[in-house]
Formats: sequence, structure tokens, C-alpha cells
Amino acid sequence: MAEVSYVKASRVFSGNPPVRAVDELSLEVSDGEFLVLVGPSGSGKSTALRMLAGLEDVDEGAIHIGGKDVTNVPPKGRDIAMVFQSYALYPHMTVAENMGFALKLRGVSKTEIKAKVDEAAKMLDLTKYLDRKPKALSGGQRQRVAMGRAIVREPSVFLMDEPLSNLDAKLRVETRANIAALQQRLGTTTIYVTHDQVEAMTMGHRVAVLKDGLLQQCDTPRALYDRPANAFVAGFIGSPAMNLKTVPITSEGAKLDGIIVPLSRAALDAAGGLDEVTFGIRPEALGIVSSNEEGMEMTVELVEELGADALVHGAVKIGDSSQRFVVRVDGRTPPTLGQHVKVAVRDHSEIHLFHPESGERLEA
Ligand SMILES: Nc1ncnc2c1ncn2[C@@H]1O[C@H](COP(=O)(O)OP(=O)(O)OP(=O)(O)O)[C@@H](O)[C@H]1O
Ligand SMILES: [Mg+2]
Repeated sequence: MAEVSYVKASRVFSGNPPVRAVDELSLEVSDGEFLVLVGPSGSGKSTALRMLAGLEDVDEGAIHIGGKDVTNVPPKGRDIAMVFQSYALYPHMTVAENMGFALKLRGVSKTEIKAKVDEAAKMLDLTKYLDRKPKALSGGQRQRVAMGRAIVREPSVFLMDEPLSNLDAKLRVETRANIAALQQRLGTTTIYVTHDQVEAMTMGHRVAVLKDGLLQQCDTPRALYDRPANAFVAGFIGSPAMNLKTVPITSEGAKLDGIIVPLSRAALDAAGGLDEVTFGIRPEALGIVSSNEEGMEMTVELVEELGADALVHGAVKIGDSSQRFVVRVDGRTPPTLGQHVKVAVRDHSEIHLFHPESGERLEA
């Protein structure tokens, strides 16, 4: 087991201009932690993971594993095991042989290999498939064999790069719960890459959000959701996404269509000098109110019925433009398409304000 740190680590690919795929990444992962790296395609997640694995050069800065600087240590000397998206199993080997192969290469005795493989198979519910070849397994079972290959090596760090993307939706949900439980049980430091924010939020002890090679925020799922550091994180974390609109601000508050949303003293102070702010509110912090109450006029354009709730998408006039808002409502009484409704802020503690240009969160 080991802690991991990135110390202002960068990977710069040559080109014109050069691509800073990972840009001065500083991140500390504690021993036994499950850290998820999440971000849109091309944000540098795989590159960051590959730098840790030693498969990619570190052009600036350093990487430490277990307190030791491994920046120039080859992959073999790093005591890590990696599970990729394409977890190519050896087709001519049985499940047991696939799982034990790395140990065999290391010269571990047959009895010890068997003991380790049996133990991992039990954990992964693969015992009855040990003699099968990979082609006789389902996608989820193959994925578990790939996990098994990593587990038997008893590395100090697991690295996983989108290991579930070849599975169908239902199996992904099931498998992500299994991986999280397994990690908990083994207590092995794990760094897990995904572009799926739901996967990130449900699996990680902490989640690091990357964009264009730059770390945006690293915190617990709760903290990312409640206090996003900037407008990008606010829009990226949470499904459906937070409503984010640039609106005028006065000494009384933020001006939306027909209403002025009062803001706290601290928020107004933080926005001092600005005449516009990026106003953020999650769909569940908005609500539909009766027509005689104060609210924004919204024309319903789409209703997504999810069962317990419904998501109402509609157009609201802000200044001269029409902007789309999403409101989460009770699933039993959704409005109908084309209906004009009034929307109001239900929870004023759930308002987020960001700088209209830099996107940085205003007020601490
Ligand atoms: N070998 C390379 N040469 C040049 N540029 C590269 C190389 N590998 C990656 N890049 C660039 O570095 C950036 C980060 O790529 P990376 O594969 O780390 O993204 P990612 O976050 O894993 O994306 P995805 O979600 O699509 O897997 C991208 O702009 C990519 O084009
Ligand atoms: Mg990738």
C-alpha cells in the first residue's frame, strides 16, 4: 500500500503549439484512498494515469509513490497494476492461467499462484469459471478476470482507465458497485479514470476534475456538488446539469425575468463592481409556483418523466434573449408541453455565483 503524489507534474507533447496534456498537476492521494480522475474527452486523464504508471514521460515536476520519487523509475519498478478499457485477455489461456500469468513470469511457485488465483476468484465470484477460456465468458465476467489479473499481483497501487466502458449500462452500475466494495476490502490505493461524472461521484472517496490538462478542483463528491470551485465544475458535476446563466446584478440581487433573486451580503460583496454574474442553480432548487406568486414566466418545451420526479425544460426570457432552464418537479404532477408556468427559487441557500469571465466562484 502507498500514497501517491503528483508534484507540479506536466506532460507536454511536441507540436505547434505544443500540447500541455497535463499541466502542472499537483495532487496527493492518501494510502488506501479511491481517487477518481474525471473530465471531458481530451482533458488529460489517461495521460495523467500513464505518467503515474511510467508509460508516459514526466516533462516537468515529479511523481512520488510511497514517499519515493519514481519520476525516472521504469514501469516494472513501480509496484502498480493497471486495468485498461480494452482488457485484452490471452484467448488461448484459461481464466486461471490469465489471472496467474504475471506471477508465473515472476517465477512464483505453482502452489502459491494457485492459492492467490483461487482467493482472487472467490472475491470476484469467478471460481466456477477458472477452467474456461475468455471467449466462453460474458463481458462482465471478462472484466472481472481483468480485475483478477491486477489483484493477484498485490500491487501497492491500482490504476484503472475506464475499465467499464465496454459493458452495457446495467452491468456498469453493478460492476462499479463491486469495484468500490472490492477496493474497500483490499484497502489498496486506487486511481480510477472515467469521463462519466455519475461514475466518479458514486465511486470516489474524492474526485479530481480535469479540463484541458488543468486540475479544476479535487474534493469529496458532496463538496464538489455543494461548492463547485468554478462554473466548469458546476456545470460538469450533477445530472441534469446546473442551470448557469449570465444575468445582470444590482444592489438588491440577481435580475432574472420578472424577479430579483435576493443575494446574501457576502455574495453581493464578492460580486462588488460587477454588473453581471454567472448565476447557477440546480434543477432541484427551483420549483413551479402558482400563477399569483412571484416567479419567472416559463414556457414548457419538454417534460422528462423519470418516475419519482420529472424534469421540466422550458424557455425563460432574460433581457432580450430566451434561455433554457431545467426544473425538477414531483413526478405525479408535471405540467404539460406548451404550458406557461411560473418558476421560483425554492432554496436560496442553493444559489451559486461565478465571475462572468473567469468562471471562478464568488464568495468563499
Ligand atoms: N502521443 C500523443 N501525442 C500528442 N498528443 C497527445 C498524445 N497523447 C495524447 N495527446 C493529447 O493530449 C490530450 C490529453 O489526452 P488524454 O488521452 O490524456 O485525454 P483523456 O482525458 O484520457 O480523454 P478520453 O476521455 O477521450 O480518453 C489530448 O489533447 C490528446 O490529443
Ligand atoms: Mg482516456
